[in-house]
Amino acid sequence: MARDHNPMPQPYEYDVLIIGSGAAGLTVALNLPQHLKICVVSKADISSGATLWAQGGIAAVLDDQDSSENHIQDTLMAGGGLCHEDAVRFTVEHSKKSIEWLIETGVDFTRNTDSQLHLTREGGHSHRRIIHAADATGHAVSTTLASQARARPNIELRSSRVAVDLITNRKLALPGNRCVGAYILNLEDNHVELFRARFTVIATGGASKAYRYTTNPDGASGDGIAMAWRAGCRVANMEFNQFHPTCLYHPHAKSFLITEAVRGEGGLLKLPDGSRFMDRFDKRAELAPRDIVARAIDHEMKRLGADHLLLDISHKPADFIRHHFPTIYEKCLEFGIDITREAIPVVPAAHYTCGGIVSDDRARTDINQLYVVGEAGFTGLHGANRMASNSLLECLVYGRAAAADITRREADIPQSPDAPAWDESQVRDSDEDVVISHNWDELRHFMWDYVGIVRTTKRLQRAKHRVDLLSGEIGEFYNNYRVTNDLLELRNLVTVSDLIICSAMQRKESRGLHYTLDYPGLQHEPRDTLLMPTTYRTPSP
Ligand code: FAD
Ligand code: SIN
Repeated sequence: MARDHNPMPQPYEYDVLIIGSGAAGLTVALNLPQHLKICVVSKADISSGATLWAQGGIAAVLDDQDSSENHIQDTLMAGGGLCHEDAVRFTVEHSKKSIEWLIETGVDFTRNTDSQLHLTREGGHSHRRIIHAADATGHAVSTTLASQARARPNIELRSSRVAVDLITNRKLALPGNRCVGAYILNLEDNHVELFRARFTVIATGGASKAYRYTTNPDGASGDGIAMAWRAGCRVANMEFNQFHPTCLYHPHAKSFLITEAVRGEGGLLKLPDGSRFMDRFDKRAELAPRDIVARAIDHEMKRLGADHLLLDISHKPADFIRHHFPTIYEKCLEFGIDITREAIPVVPAAHYTCGGIVSDDRARTDINQLYVVGEAGFTGLHGANRMASNSLLECLVYGRAAAADITRREADIPQSPDAPAWDESQVRDSDEDVVISHNWDELRHFMWDYVGIVRTTKRLQRAKHRVDLLSGEIGEFYNNYRVTNDLLELRNLVTVSDLIICSAMQRKESRGLHYTLDYPGLQHEPRDTLLMPTTYRTPSP
């Protein structure tokens, strides 16, 4: 085993180490007291991750005609009987405060001519309740939070740093069940560094890169979920990978989403012959929840042998379209599609990881002093299908909850024990990087084909067989060669794919985003799929 350690400690020592600089990670950082020494690491730029690309907006009850109860009921309904009602209530009841904080922080949301916030509508929502910055909400949120964090002297922002693994007492053969920090690969000099911290927060986002077609940017490789699993945390409901119904279909467009707000503002889904079809699947038609719309599109594409369907908003005035969807208008125009005059070719694509690391309403995990926030976590909010625009809301609400809990506890938590530096003495540079790129492609292909929108037991078994083979190969690679970002991402993707497949195999029903031809019905008792690592230990209260 090449990963022995040598006794050369490095000087990185913090009160709070936050892994990930999306909405979740930066919300934690900015809500912590300024006497704490905080480090936020990101494997890419500080403004990166899914947050930067979010389009539609953030759901919150801000209109007098709406109510928290409506938002709660809509979320429960979209979640297919699996939402934890306490988590839904907690999130919705903290929504207004979280949005007020975001506005105070400086995010400039779209307003009506009377200066009131413009609220748009998306699938599953019974009211207009999505605040947004035109169709580039994530850009506004990400850049504002990052600039606020840059202005704080107690926050260090380190980009090009990839967390490799968490360090725990158990790993160090010490008594207790706490997180000590993490080993982090510095992409600037390709060395792994030791970061010790009193508290560690995972905010690494989702795992949609496990699929060949995705709306997610590079980096959504489920690193935090895989790291926490290896460290001994439970993960839940990984079978519920959400497929967004409308990703732009064009040979040169990589992962470009067409926001659900296009349907919220009147966009219609059409077959290649121009006819509508959604009312055959659900009375809410284009505004049915995402699982239903994505499955309907998949069904029609397979039935017709079509490689895409159409989303048409060209019946709306051109000025309205350009005003509400400037980013989409420009992007489509780059590909020769004028959305004010013609329909947009669309396909479903992997979009969001509803499952994740099990956490409570303070964002605590199964390991003491280890928190999780955002898409990497499982709070119980989304159930079997996340409702549109509830994700950024969850990042804010649980990010603030994590910060509040750390603030309450920090005086009582000493610095973590010393840990050895990373040892690279027994590994060498890989001379076969083609193995990594080949395995990346293979994994993402079979996940799409066998573990996608429609599943069968046989397809899942095939996928399990292949993921086991890849797991062995990648394990060997990891033990013998110097780590690189590609190798680390592949190692994590193989782990989360295995978690997705194992969870899907356990669910003997079709619920929400998990649809299998072998079990088309619902079981009576809705149940979470909880995976327990062999190293699981009960955390202290
Ligand atoms: P991310 O924003 O994904 O950030 C993850 C961070 O972790 C990044 O900084 C990344 O570099 C870092 N990271 C990952 N692994 C490591 C590692 N090993 N070491 C160091 N750093 C690491 N949700 C909504 O509610 N409304 C929307 O309108 C909306 N639109 C969306 C549009 C698109 C195209 C996509 C892809 C998603 C959208 N979502 C939307 C979902 C939402 O954007 C995400 O769920 C949310 O932004 C996740 O935030 P996060 O902070 O958890 O993770
Ligand atoms: C979208 O704008 O359609 C994405 C919204 C979301 O994922 O919540």
